[in-house]
Amino acid sequence: MSSKHFEERCQELLQSLETSGQTKPFYEIQGPMGPVVKIDGKGEIIVLCSNNYLGLADHPEVIEAGIQGLKDYGAGTASVRFICGTLSCHRQLEEEIAELIGTPSSLSYVSCWNANEAVFPTLTGPDDILLSDELNHASIIDGCRLVSKKVEKQVYKHSDLEDLERRLKGSMDKACRWVITDGVFSMEGDVCRLPELIDLCEKYEALLVLDDSHGIGVLGQSGRGTPEFFDAIGKVDIITGTLGKALGGAAGGYVGASQSAIRTLEQRARPSLFSNALPATVAYSAGKAIEILRRDDSIVSRLHGNVSKLRQGFADLGYDCPSSPTAIIPIMIGDEAEAIQKSKRLFELGIMVIGFGFPVVPRGEARLRVQVSAALQQEHIDRILDAFAKL
Ligand SMILES: Cc1ncc(COP(=O)(O)O)c(C=O)c1O
Repeated sequence: MSSKHFEERCQELLQSLETSGQTKPFYEIQGPMGPVVKIDGKGEIIVLCSNNYLGLADHPEVIEAGIQGLKDYGAGTASVRFICGTLSCHRQLEEEIAELIGTPSSLSYVSCWNANEAVFPTLTGPDDILLSDELNHASIIDGCRLVSKKVEKQVYKHSDLEDLERRLKGSMDKACRWVITDGVFSMEGDVCRLPELIDLCEKYEALLVLDDSHGIGVLGQSGRGTPEFFDAIGKVDIITGTLGKALGGAAGGYVGASQSAIRTLEQRARPSLFSNALPATVAYSAGKAIEILRRDDSIVSRLHGNVSKLRQGFADLGYDCPSSPTAIIPIMIGDEAEAIQKSKRLFELGIMVIGFGFPVVPRGEARLRVQVSAALQQEHIDRILDAFAKL
């Protein structure tokens, strides 16, 4: 294909997005992420769509730690980890992560996307079967796409335990059965049925993988995530998660698992064998975020309080929000263009909420996705509810 055709193809797609009102805006933020940000030409806007659940992205100690990381280790190692890129701060962070999430060991990645792309192709064998919830995050879907063609892959209906059990029963000839689920589903804001999933995995000798990117820092009394919420710490085989949301918000991800699984990833996983490690600045900031979370329960309770106030406020205004303990509140709109239109209107009212449409969610299920932060003060909550009343 000539480059002229390629250009035409891009232009056509962009034009069709424009015509159908589906072009995503990219707002330029001038300063750190917080409950309120300054946007070029728009002034101050309340943020209701960041994953900054604990409000630690601009916490002075988190910023200071990042600066210290840069001073202690420089910009980076200019190498992958197994050559000369493993730093003491990586090992330290990995110990802290393992302790926080309750797994024997952990390994950091530059993103949870990378972590999910490491786990499945590296740890599965040719006679295994992967059973993945239909609403799992795109990084799980892509991670599963990378496994050997010999591994069977099936998708079970969202949180449908009967469907999952039927598939488990039918795969007892497999060497290893894998059940893969998000802890908190990122577009629905619902929590997986962890206790039942653990029981099923025990019954059918399956491995359970939990991506707790939206659960860590949010669920459980002390923010240790979905396993804490269900009093199931230590009962999940493999946990993946991000450092780019509640835990400092910069970037980075992790896998928590047994020592042997982690050592196998270290030896064989392509995202870490062929790509540089987490920069020290990020390792330090994430480590500080974990330290703050562990020493100060009040941040998590403030987040839980804000979640309750906003859920109640939306319900009082007549919005249909499914009940859930998470900090993700989807407001269903249906039509994509309308969702984008409504998010633009909210933006004019000083509130940043993004409208999500295809391909992030199925066609016809466009929504506004509200995400709550511990950093929101009462005055912000009042302004948010006022804007939604006008909407
Ligand atoms: C459930 C889930 N897993 C993984 C990721 C990817 O995280 P990261 O930004 O660290 O790659 C996300 C981010 O949106 C997510 O929601």
